[in-house]
Amino acid sequence: MALPPVLITEAQIATRVDELARRISADYAGVDELLLVGVLRGAFIFLADLSRRLTIPCRVDFIALSRYEHGSTPSGAVRLIMDLRVAITGKHVLLVEDIVDSGVTLDYLRGTLQTRGPASLRTCALTRKPDRLPSDVSVDYVGFDIPDRWVVGYGLDYDNRFRTLPYIGVLDLPPG
Ligand code: IMP
Ligand code: MG
Repeated sequence: MALPPVLITEAQIATRVDELARRISADYAGVDELLLVGVLRGAFIFLADLSRRLTIPCRVDFIALSRYEHGSTPSGAVRLIMDLRVAITGKHVLLVEDIVDSGVTLDYLRGTLQTRGPASLRTCALTRKPDRLPSDVSVDYVGFDIPDRWVVGYGLDYDNRFRTLPYIGVLDLPPG
């Protein structure tokens, strides 16, 4: 298959990740430690780059989710398939996501983690599709607002492929 056309270049990503890291480091400057929670698998590259640019003390953990499927079509519901290893009660938590599309995943994660009593809980997403997102789903730190297209690369996949592309590209998917 040909390489997907570029939507966001490697250089644009690097610049934006720098900016996000500076903002996050400033916002959490007074905090003793931040727990970064990466949502697998899509966030692994973004989290790796972002975390190395933060100038505040951090720990890293991961969580993995799956959409419930009815036949081949995902329904709205989300299921936890791998939980955090650490307790988050009393901790400052930043959820790190690859993309926020309908917001269902983020909503679910926020709800689940909030019940555990973190000192604070914020969200950071590399990309967001504002056209698809209900207005009541907010994201604290957003890398790029993107059009409602299927994007791949820099962690994002289609059928678990293209994750290791260094840029974010667009796939032209057949309808359905
Ligand atoms: P949401 O729950 O609808 O916000 O969907 C979020 C999840 O759907 C993301 O974490 C991705 O795994 C996946 N997703 C949504 N849109 C895209 C895309 O354009 N490319 C790759 N994955 C996507
Ligand atoms: Mg994801």
